[in-house]
Amino acid sequence: MQKTDLKVINYTKNKFYSSEYNFQELSFFHQKEIAKVHDLQKSHSSFTETPLYQLNNLAKELNVGEIYVKDESQRFGLNAFKVMGGIYAMAKCIAEKIGEEIENLSFDVLNSKRVKEQLGDLTFISATDGNHGRGVAWAAKELGYQSVIYMPKGSSEARLEAIRNEGAEAYISDMNYDNAVRYCANLAEKNNWIMVQDTAWDGYDEIPLWIMQGYAAMAKEITGQLVSHEEKPPTHLFLQAGVGSFAGAIAAYMVEHYREDAPTIVVVEPHEADCYYRSFSTADGDRELVTGDMDTIMAGLACGEPNTRAFRVLRQYAGAAISCSNEVSALGMRIYGNPLGDDPRVISGESGAVTLGLLHYLKKDSTYTSITEELGLGENARVLLISTEGDTDAQHYRDIVWKGHYPN
Ligand SMILES: Cc1ncc(COP(=O)(O)O)c(C=O)c1O
Repeated sequence: MQKTDLKVINYTKNKFYSSEYNFQELSFFHQKEIAKVHDLQKSHSSFTETPLYQLNNLAKELNVGEIYVKDESQRFGLNAFKVMGGIYAMAKCIAEKIGEEIENLSFDVLNSKRVKEQLGDLTFISATDGNHGRGVAWAAKELGYQSVIYMPKGSSEARLEAIRNEGAEAYISDMNYDNAVRYCANLAEKNNWIMVQDTAWDGYDEIPLWIMQGYAAMAKEITGQLVSHEEKPPTHLFLQAGVGSFAGAIAAYMVEHYREDAPTIVVVEPHEADCYYRSFSTADGDRELVTGDMDTIMAGLACGEPNTRAFRVLRQYAGAAISCSNEVSALGMRIYGNPLGDDPRVISGESGAVTLGLLHYLKKDSTYTSITEELGLGENARVLLISTEGDTDAQHYRDIVWKGHYPN
C-alpha cells in the first residue's frame, strides 16, 4: 500500500481536551430529549431504523476487536442520514408556530388540514452540498410546503437533480458552502422564509440545535442496537466532519449516554476543509476557518467554518482530529463495496467511507503505528463507524469503485 499523508493531532494531550462532563451542553442530547425527537421521526410512515452491521472478517484483517458500521444509505430511501436533522427541525418550527409541544405531535398532525389552514404557505430555504438539501426538499414536500436550495460552486449535477426531483427550487451557485449559507440567510430575511441551516453561528443556533438533535437519534438507535445484539459499548468512534453538526451530535449523545465508558472520539476531515484539525492544532483552541473552493471528492465535508455549538462539544470531547486526502475515502468506498468473506456489503459514498479508509491506513501503514498505539487502537478495540451516505453521485461512485479513480 502506498503511503498517504494523514495529518494527526492527538487532542488527548492538548490542554483544551477534557473528559469532564459539561452538563449544560450535554443536556440537549440526553436520552430523554432524543427519545422525543426519535418518536417524531418514527411517526412518518416510511421510517425504519437503519442497520448496524459487524464487519468481523475485516476486524480480524485489521487486528481490532470489532468493527461496527451504521449504514445510513438506507435512511428514508434518501441515501444519506441528513434528513434526520431536517425533518425534526422543520417539525419543531411548525410546532412553535402553532404553539404546541413537539411530544404531542406526529407527522400526520403536522401534515393535517387544520395545521395547513392555520399556517398558510411556508417556504424553507437552505444552502447545502446536496444531502441536507435533499432531506429539506423531501421533508418540505411531505409536509406540503415549498423549499429553495442553493448548492456550492462545483456541486454535482446528479445531486442537484435529486433535490429538484423532491420538488425544490434548486440551484448550483458560484459560491463556496460558507458563502452560500450567508446568501441564503439574506434571502430568508428578505422574503420571510425559514432558514433551515445545518450549522450554527452567533445569533443563529436554535434551528441548528434541532438539526443536531435530529442526528443524535442515530446514536440512540446505535446504543439500542448494540444492547439488542448483546455487544459492549464501542471503545472508538470515528466521525467525519464538515461543519461538525453530525460529529458533535453523535459525540454529545455518546458521552452523555456512556459517561466514563464513552469511546475515544476521532474527528475525520478532508485536507482541503480541515477546520477542526487546524483549530485543534492551534495554541488558543479557537475556531480556525478554511476559505476558498475546498476542492475535495468528500462533498459533504467541504465546509470551512465549524458550527459553533458542535465546536464547543468536540473541542471538549474529541480525542483526536485527523485530516485525510481523497485516496483515503476512495479506499474506504472500495473496501465497503468488496467485503471480506461473509461480511455485509455496504454501498458508501465519498463522505461516508472516509472513516473506514482511515482505519485501514492507521492499521496497515507502519508510519502510523505510534498514533494507533496512543489512541489505543489495538486488538481489543471496538470501533464504531457511520457510513453517512450511499452512492449519492452514482457515476462518481462507479468511477472510483469500478475504474479505480483516486488509487491508493
Ligand atoms: C454524507 C455526509 N456525511 C457527513 C457530513 C458532515 O456533516 P456536518 O456538516 O454536520 O459535519 C455531511 C454533510 O453534508 C454529509 O453529507
